[in-house]
Amino acid sequence: MNGRPRVLSGIQPSGRLHIGNYLGAIQQWVLGQDAKDNFFCIVDLHAITVPQDPDQLRLQTRQTAAILLAAGIDPKKSTLFVQSHVRAHAEACWILNCLTPLGWLERMTQYKSKAANQETVSTGLLNYPVLMAADILLYDADEVPVGDDQRQHVELTRDIAVRFNHIYGDFFVVPKAVIREEGARVMGLDDPNAKMSKSGPARGHAVGIVDEPDEIRYTLGRAVTDSGREIQFSSAPEKAGVNNLLQIYLLMSGKSAPEVERNFEGRGYGDLKKAVTEVVIESLRPIRERYAQLMQEPDDLDRLLATGAAQARALAEPKVLGLKERVGFVLPTTSDTST
Ligand code: AMP
Ligand code: TRP
Repeated sequence: MNGRPRVLSGIQPSGRLHIGNYLGAIQQWVLGQDAKDNFFCIVDLHAITVPQDPDQLRLQTRQTAAILLAAGIDPKKSTLFVQSHVRAHAEACWILNCLTPLGWLERMTQYKSKAANQETVSTGLLNYPVLMAADILLYDADEVPVGDDQRQHVELTRDIAVRFNHIYGDFFVVPKAVIREEGARVMGLDDPNAKMSKSGPARGHAVGIVDEPDEIRYTLGRAVTDSGREIQFSSAPEKAGVNNLLQIYLLMSGKSAPEVERNFEGRGYGDLKKAVTEVVIESLRPIRERYAQLMQEPDDLDRLLATGAAQARALAEPKVLGLKERVGFVLPTTSDTST
């Protein structure tokens, strides 16, 4: 559309959104908004691949929408919508399921690690990447801006698109993952060798995007470092804690890597933690304030999401009809509005 690359990305409305989500995904969505044709999807169908409390899920869906808007997603520039509002996602997922070999899904590393943490594993959890492929392919997305943990899922999406195009003729755009060099993998503050995640320990692990300043001070003040002194970017495993803090500082401050290193020359880890804490609190403050306002007007949020869903359907519905036609379904006559 208008020659601008089409972007689609998604985020789960589960747990507390953290600065890993912000720096790996949301910040690059916001920064790319003007140059791209954007679709951002709150993926509630994905969230229920693991058990969810219904009231919590409802609350977190609105909270996620409010955080995205507060962080700068502008409904005039981007389509923001809830996945379950556009039924083409579930329909396309089913059709794509039927041409995705089981072995491709069993190999997914995120499936293997999530399955290891569940008592019973739902079929939906195995299916998760196919639904993600449907999300992307329905919109003819060129680019999928995500954190590093989603690389394998976007690769699978490409494989599914190529397979479909090969069997049924050219139909899907083959998308590419857009992964930042910095911020693609923000690590846990309590354990810098594990990715920051929504399911980590309640305190000390992640900085929530809408955490209060005191909570941010607590988390960053206790961040694990090492017994050395050098404050430099490094890929050495023993420097993972300091490197993580520097990455967070770099992205939140907008400074370059040499500037950041110069800034901390001759200073200690205490100074580093203090500086990171300040920049994180100040960068997140306007987001937290705007978020609190938005959450007071849930009807406005719902209206906005309804508009987003209508915009999304305008693309997804004709695409899923085309998909049905390709695989040989008899399409409903136009007088049948139930489909
Ligand atoms: P999720 O919370 O799994 O729905 O992830 C939403 C987006 O945040 C995806 O693009 C993820 O790749 C990204 N993301 C999640 N955790 C991190 C992290 N620790 N560092 C960087 N990006 C992340
Ligand atoms: N699986 C992604 C995650 O957990 C969320 C997601 C669902 C997504 N559908 C998507 C990301 C489509 C990009 C494009 O982070």
